[in-house]
Amino acid sequence: TKGAAMVTAVASRVQAQRKQIDKVLALFRLTQEQLVGIRNKMQVEFEYGLKKDTHPLATVKMLPTYVCGMPDGTEKGKFLALDLGGTNFRVLLVKIRSGRRSVRMYNKIFAIPLEIMQGTGEELFDHIVQCIADFLDYMGLKGAQLPLGFTFSFPCRQTSIDKGTLIEWTKGFKATDCEGEDVVDMLREAIKRRNEFDLDIVAVVNDTVGTMMTCGYEDRNCEVGLIAGTGSNMCYMEEMRNIELVEGDEGKMCINTEWGGFGDNGCLDDIQTQYDKEVDEGSLNPGKQRYEKMTSGMYLGEIVRQILIDLTKQGLLFRGQISERLRTRGIFETKFLSQIESDRLALLQVRRILQQLGLDSTCEDSIVVKEVCGAVSRRAAQLYGAGLAAIVEKRREDQGLEHMRITVGVDGTLYKLHPHFSRILRETVKELAPQCDVMFMLSEDGSGKGAALITAVAKRLQQAQRE
Ligand code: GLC
Repeated sequence: TKGAAMVTAVASRVQAQRKQIDKVLALFRLTQEQLVGIRNKMQVEFEYGLKKDTHPLATVKMLPTYVCGMPDGTEKGKFLALDLGGTNFRVLLVKIRSGRRSVRMYNKIFAIPLEIMQGTGEELFDHIVQCIADFLDYMGLKGAQLPLGFTFSFPCRQTSIDKGTLIEWTKGFKATDCEGEDVVDMLREAIKRRNEFDLDIVAVVNDTVGTMMTCGYEDRNCEVGLIAGTGSNMCYMEEMRNIELVEGDEGKMCINTEWGGFGDNGCLDDIQTQYDKEVDEGSLNPGKQRYEKMTSGMYLGEIVRQILIDLTKQGLLFRGQISERLRTRGIFETKFLSQIESDRLALLQVRRILQQLGLDSTCEDSIVVKEVCGAVSRRAAQLYGAGLAAIVEKRREDQGLEHMRITVGVDGTLYKLHPHFSRILRETVKELAPQCDVMFMLSEDGSGKGAALITAVAKRLQQAQRE
């Protein structure tokens, strides 16, 4: 009959649509074999970065940090810390008490307006110093000359703990006249321009290093720092003899890998999708930080948005209508992805979130959106897992151990807020580095506390040298 024919027609259309959607989702599925391949490629890039000959062209830069030891518990005093590079800019006062290993912190969060993030370097650093002045006023510390640790979460070439030349901006920053300059000098000059107070800048620190230090304060086995937030990066303790860029063979030094640049030589092209390419092309730094763009909070929502646009174009979503909202960059922040993927949420609530974002969805739409988010964040967690497996396996092999235990200090909203990310990351590491026992330790404010601890250690060494 006619009715039955119509039902069949609808059913086969639904089936065809499902097939099209599955085809897109399948692009984000990585096989075990692919993941092993990615782990191995990452290890090759680590070696390129560490070796003098290959370092200049390496995409994973493996930057020496001049952080050589962990705090030993005798550190104490009051320190200022700055944290630039995440979602907000923060100024902190950190009080460290020796013996009990207790740390007290006071902080103030300042927004950095887009026009300053992407204005001139002078404006950026004047703004930073303005925020410091506000904070000192607020805390009643204007006259105090406290040692300061500057967490600056971008790739920097260091020749000592208190010098760092910005190699290039990443994430959402693009201020002019900073690349190739020493960020500590820029900060000092901005303080001079203001001519109101003086600060003793002791250390410049990457957020991964601060995170590792904070966790290392409590667990001596912590030799890796991981950030899964706005950006994606990892640092670890390396044997000095393997670091060709720095003289000396004794002991260890922390290496900031800047693994976000993994894939910039094309070695990840086989897993890159058209959506990844679109995200890359629409970014501030096309062609750069490709691994970061597949894994970090700043970009995952953008990948999702590109997929949704494509599915809508194919008539598979939102009744085929691409709304102005869907065309807007940056609408899917990590917190929305985390909410959408939460299993406690009923589909109706997913629809409500989409509505908040200005996207009018049917019940079927919301199912598809959730699947898309799941595919993108799962791939990100697996890629992180492959990268982390690469470093722990390398450390195990370097030490000639059959089995190794290691602690990884972690920070970042993606790791902390997302309902599945951390589990998938841990499962992937287990599969790809079966001879390593990896413990994950959440860092409480690694960027602030870590910078202060590193400053304290540096200060102690400075004084010891003078005596
Ligand atoms: C970017 C930066 C890196 C930082 C990471 C996490 O990848 O280049 O220095 O550690 O973001 O914030």
